[in-house]
Amino acid sequence: MNLLKLYASLKSELQSIEDSLADSVSSELELLDESAKHLLKAGGKRLRPVFVLLAGKFGDYSLDRLKKVAVPLELIHMASLVHDDVIDDANTRRGQPTVKAKWDNRIAMFTGDYIHGKALVVAGQLEDARIHRILSGAIVQMCIGEMEQIRDFFNTEQSTRNYLLRIRRKTALLIAISCQLGAIAAGAPDRVSNALYRFGYQVGMAFQITDDLLDLCGTEKAIGKPPGSDLRQGNITLPVLFALQEEKLREPLLQEIAIIRAADAGEVSSAAAVKLVRSSAGIRESEKLADRYIAKALGELDHLPNIPAKRNLAEIAKFVAQRSY
Ligand code: IPE
Ligand code: IPE
Ligand code: MG
Ligand code: MG
Ligand code: MG
Repeated sequence: MNLLKLYASLKSELQSIEDSLADSVSSELELLDESAKHLLKAGGKRLRPVFVLLAGKFGDYSLDRLKKVAVPLELIHMASLVHDDVIDDANTRRGQPTVKAKWDNRIAMFTGDYIHGKALVVAGQLEDARIHRILSGAIVQMCIGEMEQIRDFFNTEQSTRNYLLRIRRKTALLIAISCQLGAIAAGAPDRVSNALYRFGYQVGMAFQITDDLLDLCGTEKAIGKPPGSDLRQGNITLPVLFALQEEKLREPLLQEIAIIRAADAGEVSSAAAVKLVRSSAGIRESEKLADRYIAKALGELDHLPNIPAKRNLAEIAKFVAQRSY
């Protein structure tokens, strides 16, 4: 299933969000204007705004109000990516040089902060304190998740539970609240916004597991960045944890990871370790777990009224586990 097809029903709304995104990060300071718009222009799936809009269909749909949630969510996501590329020392994203590669780390830190600040400016137009509490709570969790990842770098003894808790904070919660806040901003009942939160959480878990699989199995052309980056950084993801449980693979894989660890991050290739993980059942096991999360997400939709948006949400959930970018 092609995302564009899924998005077709939201075309004019998404264009309006696109315009607001560009407006909201504009700056009279040319350097900041360029650096802040750089990632925006590079594209991206705009998954979080799409979830906001679809969730909004379960209440009293007002694009004007939903935009005040969708734009901050995409901006928070974008700010986290600009910072993430500093942390992950990543030079390419969405097929383009990252802010930190095109300029430098200092520019990237403040560009991220600026985009983040602008997210708060837009959200500030909403009076519902609950929305602000939910947004700030998710930002806090995201930082904890990223910090846990740094703590767990090269820890080959960590449990899969540890990994799942980390990606819950790092990725799944922001997607969960995108669904929840769309419903809240549209005044939908709690029963609906809570079901959408649970749907988004399950989709978000599958989303990060798939992102981690793509880092191992994707092609540079498809994912817009060189594969193998996670292992090169020491980020031990789910397929690697599963591969480490395989008796025949454990020792050679530990050795390859030790070689990466001993080298300078920028200098080393993770190709040998990636090859071992690719040959393991860890890929299939991880795909299976992602599929289980998607099945649970689809189950959550059962609690929702049968409107067309429900089918769209189901389609996006299915796309997430099968995506190649
Ligand atoms: C990338 O998110 C970071 C993760 C949370 C895995 P997306 O895959 O949604 O990034 P874009 O916005 O489409 O580039
Ligand atoms: C997701 O993790 C990043 C955030 C939640 C900010 P990744 O580091 O795996 O994201 P990509 O792969 O760089 O997009
Ligand atoms: Mg990262
Ligand atoms: Mg990254
Ligand atoms: Mg990744």
